[in-house]
Amino acid sequence: MQQVNVGMIGCGTVGGGVLQALQRNSPLMASRLGVKLSVAKVAVRHPRKVRAVAIPPSLITTDWENVVADPRINLVVELIGGTTMARKIILHALSAGKPVITANKALLSAHGEELFAAAQEYGANLYYEASVGGGIPIIKVLREALIGNRITRIYGIVNGTCNYILTRMKLESADFADVLAEAQRLGYAEAEPSLDIDGYDALHKVGILASLAHGFWVNPKHIYVEGIRSISRLDIQFAGQLGYTIKLLGVVKRFDDLRFANDAPPRRKSRNSQIENRRSARVQVSVYPALIPNSHVLASVNHVFNAIYVRGDVVGDTLYYGRGAGPDATASAVLSDLADAALDLKCGSKSRIPPFVPHECDGAVLNMGEVLSRYYVRLSVVDKPGTLARIAAILGREKIGISSVIQPEGHEGESVPLILMIHDAPNAAMTQALEKIGRLAVVKATPRIIRVESFE
Ligand code: HSE
Repeated sequence: MQQVNVGMIGCGTVGGGVLQALQRNSPLMASRLGVKLSVAKVAVRHPRKVRAVAIPPSLITTDWENVVADPRINLVVELIGGTTMARKIILHALSAGKPVITANKALLSAHGEELFAAAQEYGANLYYEASVGGGIPIIKVLREALIGNRITRIYGIVNGTCNYILTRMKLESADFADVLAEAQRLGYAEAEPSLDIDGYDALHKVGILASLAHGFWVNPKHIYVEGIRSISRLDIQFAGQLGYTIKLLGVVKRFDDLRFANDAPPRRKSRNSQIENRRSARVQVSVYPALIPNSHVLASVNHVFNAIYVRGDVVGDTLYYGRGAGPDATASAVLSDLADAALDLKCGSKSRIPPFVPHECDGAVLNMGEVLSRYYVRLSVVDKPGTLARIAAILGREKIGISSVIQPEGHEGESVPLILMIHDAPNAAMTQALEKIGRLAVVKATPRIIRVESFE
């Protein structure tokens, strides 16, 4: 049986998971693939470190260049994380014509365009199933299973740490800071949690999904991001009373007709007008906490689980659910890439389905100010006649419609909560209106605003 020799660079939690999973299932994979996968070298920084999964000493090296250069190594698995060394390693391996597997979403977000161009230039594939959604095979879904669809919507719960925190805040009526501290103690949240709770990990993942779905590279700087730091127990409680659950949502929406915008700019001209079917897509790519109707399936995705909801113009709505992180889930995704890479090597395919290619769209990311959203607004106001009229007047001047107003009972004191549900309005107009509302003397705290997702 043909053998594919794998060089691993980095062997932390995910690498250990990959070694363990291969020990368990490589005979099964060989029987399915007709190719034997064999780990031939593992490059690590600290060879004597005690690890949860032991690396056979004969495989260990501290020299990654030696792994890439070894003629016996057929493919390279990069699992060191970070963006500097990892970039160097991947470019080095691709330029040597060796396929590369990576789980590194931060790297793909920052340097994906360059890395995929290198993969094409050198005719070596770059595989990245483990970069988004852990064990959920969402890359394969978008790249292969839904290849006959124009993707119109992606809604993703793609950060397990945030989902864990929001779930516990809801179930236990707990405060953000307390749940975060507990999550750190249990090892669900990092000691430095900013990447997760400020939305950047989700941003990396959503950018990858948007690029794949829409065929143009999404610059992370163009992705709108809001994390969950300012979500309070009160918001979760009020949202619950209104029939909603708050989730950190990655949202990718494609607009062809531009009716989404208040003041739509002219459609960009295609770079290649000779390609008749070429379209111009404007895409909202964003990460923010959102109120989700409890009747929607994503509202029931709890704790550390991830789920990605994808709408295609042929297939309709589809849902992918599973563990978004952890050594086993991520190892499962790496194994899937190992199988693809092994088959591609066996068949001599340089780009069976290209890892990422610009396709029929000239695309551009929409400025968030142009996007229409529905909103939940929580104000802390003085409870006296005329307060609501002043607030409604400001919204009216911005042409923003209120769909409902609730002043929850049982709150007394100098100020009381006032909840407004707002019809679709452009984000820029809403921001302006809220600044003005926040300056009213009857408004006693910074207005809290959370978008409401209706999945239309
Ligand atoms: N930190 C991520 C999460 C897992 O909490 O989902 C790695 O992508």
